[in-house]
Amino acid sequence: MPGPGGLVIAIDGVIGAGKSTAARGVAIALHYRHLDTGAMYRAVALAATAADVAPSDHEKLSSLLGELQIELTPLDKGRRVLLNGEDVSADIRRPEITRCVGSYADRPVVRQQLVEVQRSMGAEGGIVAEGRDMSTVVFPGADLKIRMLAELEERARRRHEEFVAGGVDITLDQVRTDIRTRDREDEERDYGADGLPLDVVEVRTDGLSIETVIEQIVELARLRGA
Ligand code: C5P
Repeated sequence: MPGPGGLVIAIDGVIGAGKSTAARGVAIALHYRHLDTGAMYRAVALAATAADVAPSDHEKLSSLLGELQIELTPLDKGRRVLLNGEDVSADIRRPEITRCVGSYADRPVVRQQLVEVQRSMGAEGGIVAEGRDMSTVVFPGADLKIRMLAELEERARRRHEEFVAGGVDITLDQVRTDIRTRDREDEERDYGADGLPLDVVEVRTDGLSIETVIEQIVELARLRGA
């Protein structure tokens, strides 16, 4: 049953399949909120590295988490990520944060805290939540569950283009290697899921424009009452 604010749409899938862009586009089309959970894990990694807190240092990590305030500004206000009030939208996307975020996301103390915040943000409905554990752990009761898939080569090419457009100096080879490593981390990570839900709709994005993918997901949402 959709919440008072609308559906909960959970989008997960592999790295670089276009989850963020699709989730944002769907949220805009439906006038829903966009919950970018990857940005939250990135903000934790940024804060921890800045404070020199290693992923293995449970105590320091817990106390750091207690002091963190992560805010995702609404889409119409530019979709910025604020860490204790400071705009860190660009910093959290830096390649060195991308490389270390997985080791922080592995820590149960980090996951527990972020999952709780994410669930409370979705309680009302009217949200497009994006991230690997959305339909399995965070919102197993989501009204619409999407898994986005694409071949490694296409994902690497797209990510590389994004980096180049953002002025980041990185080769396609490096991007491909990073994605492969993160794919492996993702596969090995225990997200705490009991299994894969049966009602997930797989969307293969190879060769499709992002607009087409957004339209497909919006159509599925409309069929479910959005
Ligand atoms: O989606 P994005 O690339 O911004 O996510 C950054 C990292 O955060 C992922 O590589 C993964 O390690 C972690 N993450 C996670 N669970 C989520 C979203 C992201 O562990 N729901």
